[in-house]
Amino acid sequence: MSSVGLRKLVKQYGNAAPVVKGIDLEIADREFVVLVGPSGCGKSTSLRMIAGLEDISSGEILIGNRIVNDLPPRERDIAMVFQNYALYQHMTVFENLAFGLKNKKVAMSEIQSAIKHASNILGLDALLDRKPSQLSGGQQQRVALGRCIVRNPQVFLFDEPLSNLDAKLRAQMRIELKRLRERVNTTSIFVTHDQVEAMTLGDRVVVMKDGVIQQAGTPVEVYGKPANQFVASFIGSPAMNFVNARALGNNQFGTDWLALNGDRVPGAKQTLTFGIRPEHISLGQDAPGISVQGRIEMIENLGSELIATIKVGNDSIAVGRIDPLMSINPHDVVTIKIDPVKIHFFDSDTGQAQDI
Ligand SMILES: Nc1ncnc2c1ncn2[C@@H]1O[C@H](COP(=O)(O)OP(=O)(O)OP(=O)(O)O)[C@@H](O)[C@H]1O
Ligand SMILES: [Mg+2]
Repeated sequence: MSSVGLRKLVKQYGNAAPVVKGIDLEIADREFVVLVGPSGCGKSTSLRMIAGLEDISSGEILIGNRIVNDLPPRERDIAMVFQNYALYQHMTVFENLAFGLKNKKVAMSEIQSAIKHASNILGLDALLDRKPSQLSGGQQQRVALGRCIVRNPQVFLFDEPLSNLDAKLRAQMRIELKRLRERVNTTSIFVTHDQVEAMTLGDRVVVMKDGVIQQAGTPVEVYGKPANQFVASFIGSPAMNFVNARALGNNQFGTDWLALNGDRVPGAKQTLTFGIRPEHISLGQDAPGISVQGRIEMIENLGSELIATIKVGNDSIAVGRIDPLMSINPHDVVTIKIDPVKIHFFDSDTGQAQDI
């Protein structure tokens, strides 16, 4: 097992603008880091550079204390699971698991004990004689993970390994990965654009956009203290509401429908963006906070909760976690409560979070 270091890592294809723009990231030994961000932000490219499948344009990659920039993939001692984890269709599960080790001329007795260990962890014992076509999607996915485990590498790299699975299987595999995590504590970098996977699997979540790391923090930090408006909008579902706010005079700050005062007034600023999470707004009079009147525009029923879009002043905001038994309808005029302590502030120009 090993730490991984990325120092000013850059990737540029030809003369085009770089797609990875000088990433710095230190991943501790045994840490599980999730790289998350929208399509095209450079997640796979970063992972492929760490694996050695892609040349780097500049910077350094360290695995343990070794700079591996010029090492070919097979000498980096990493194992990678891709979204398309093609198994060898003509081989049994056992043979699929053994393949990499046989190539490395590992003794058969050692291969057998490595496979026994992996198949036990992944629940593949009863499936070792089957061919991939006789397995479900989730079972195939476990075999792909097994191929990595048997190699006992320094570092695991995962590139959206669950994205081919349907929603239910995906949730199941997420839990299995979490369990696996407890039993095989190898340094891991997991790429996804699914924020639920990011939040539930990562010791640390690294949020990327346009080839730049926006924030690296624990799931609690990126949700609770997003560094900028992008992270705030990316982490959390339904997404955070953003509202333009301004100095209102009389030591108040806000919009035509929400005025903050006291501790929550940003001194010299004239404008700011408020960020309010849908789950931090309550419908009805009972909750603490500032009362605001609005009109319901739309209601989405998720079964366990309702999400309402409510028009307040000139803004439409999402309100989450509404009891599905609550009788509300579009066009109803309702009272919502906003707890001022829960409001985030962002610079209107740069999007950077403001501590107030
Ligand atoms: N071989 C290549 N030549 C030129 N541009 C490339 C090449 N490979 C990737 N890119 C570009 O680099 C950028 C980053 O791609 P990358 O595959 O790392 O994105 P990603 O974050 O993994 O996205 P996704 O979530 O869609 O997988 C994209 O704009 C992509 O078009
Ligand atoms: Mg990708």
